[in-house]
Amino acid sequence: MKEIEKAKEHFEKIILEQLERIERMKKDVEWIDYSKIKPIIIGVVGGDGIGPYICRHAQTILEFLLKEGIDNGKIEFRTIEGLTIENRAKVGKAIPDDILGEIKKCHVILKGPTTTPKKGDPWPNIESANVAMRRELDLFANVRPVKVPEKGIDWMFFRENTEGAYILGSKGINVNEDLAIDFKVITTQGAERIIRLAFDYAKKNNINKVTIVTKANVVKTTDGKFLKIAEEVAKDYPEVEWDDWFIDIMTAKLIDPARQKDFKVIVMPNLYGDILTDEAAQIQGGVGTAGSANIGKRYAMFEAIHGSAPRMVEEGRAKYADPSSIIKAAAMLLNHIGYPEESKKLDMALDICHQYEKKIKITGRSDGATGEEFAKYIMDTLVDPKLEEKWKNYQISQ
Ligand code: IPM
Ligand code: MG
Repeated sequence: MKEIEKAKEHFEKIILEQLERIERMKKDVEWIDYSKIKPIIIGVVGGDGIGPYICRHAQTILEFLLKEGIDNGKIEFRTIEGLTIENRAKVGKAIPDDILGEIKKCHVILKGPTTTPKKGDPWPNIESANVAMRRELDLFANVRPVKVPEKGIDWMFFRENTEGAYILGSKGINVNEDLAIDFKVITTQGAERIIRLAFDYAKKNNINKVTIVTKANVVKTTDGKFLKIAEEVAKDYPEVEWDDWFIDIMTAKLIDPARQKDFKVIVMPNLYGDILTDEAAQIQGGVGTAGSANIGKRYAMFEAIHGSAPRMVEEGRAKYADPSSIIKAAAMLLNHIGYPEESKKLDMALDICHQYEKKIKITGRSDGATGEEFAKYIMDTLVDPKLEEKWKNYQISQ
């Protein structure tokens, strides 16, 4: 049958692409060393909707904290415009070539939300710009911290970011009118590098527990492989205990107060990580409160984890959009490029302004503060000599 032949050809092409990708992974590039790079180029990609508005505030704060580095030529900012749904739709690509070229000239990217079209939207059904960027820059680790001190929650999620159900998400086959098939991919190299990163993180930070999440009882081939590789990697870390959970019961246990404290470092394939980190962010106070780091050996990208809220722009409310998530991402960026103290300060200021002191509030509407006012509040808090003391007091009183 013609349709079977077509499907076979399609499948063959996919396998070839994946085998090539494996060869690239095997080349094992060295991790970039920011201490040796001058200038470290930070690209700011505003994206869609409220993206450019909130990114501007995060950039202002970064420029403030990195002033010395900027002055002595260690840090350079670049604004990369045009990663908008209109431009992407025009060329029918998740990331237009010229923009990808600009992005690749940077070292780290601060990225606002980008609209992901789904079936039925007015836009062509192009791939998500996030997913494409993660793949193009080989950002294999999606690192998402979630903390709720009063509940003893201190979680670090390591979501595999370049394969799983996502890698061929836009390359499924409609074999005929009735049969649709998607693919899920796990490779030895892809699983190993994310699992190792999670164990390394646990070891470095004296955290004695790594949790692996799969659905290996049902999705036997790919998730089974992920779990098997975890077993092997774990042998290299005898000082770190580990356990494994299936994703269904894991989503339940994540909201079980008796269990929450037991989870510490959690590592899992792409789609489970997508779902679990939204659940975790909600426990912390909503997806708007979480930041997301996408880490690869050469590049890294830091992003807000909420959407582009086009309605806020249409209704003239963009200036009231909450920049907290992108500011959180900026704090992660600082830590990643070798400014851990500045990062910690920004985290503390964000906690104070957003969760504890709340002198001004953002509501997303004109009855609340603007993003600019909020950014100013953060900066005033940052320069407060009593910042750390204040933050600690809030932690105790919680
Ligand atoms: C995220 C988002 C993305 C994802 C979307 C926008 C494609 O939900 O960063 O978690 O599914 O990875
Ligand atoms: Mg998500």
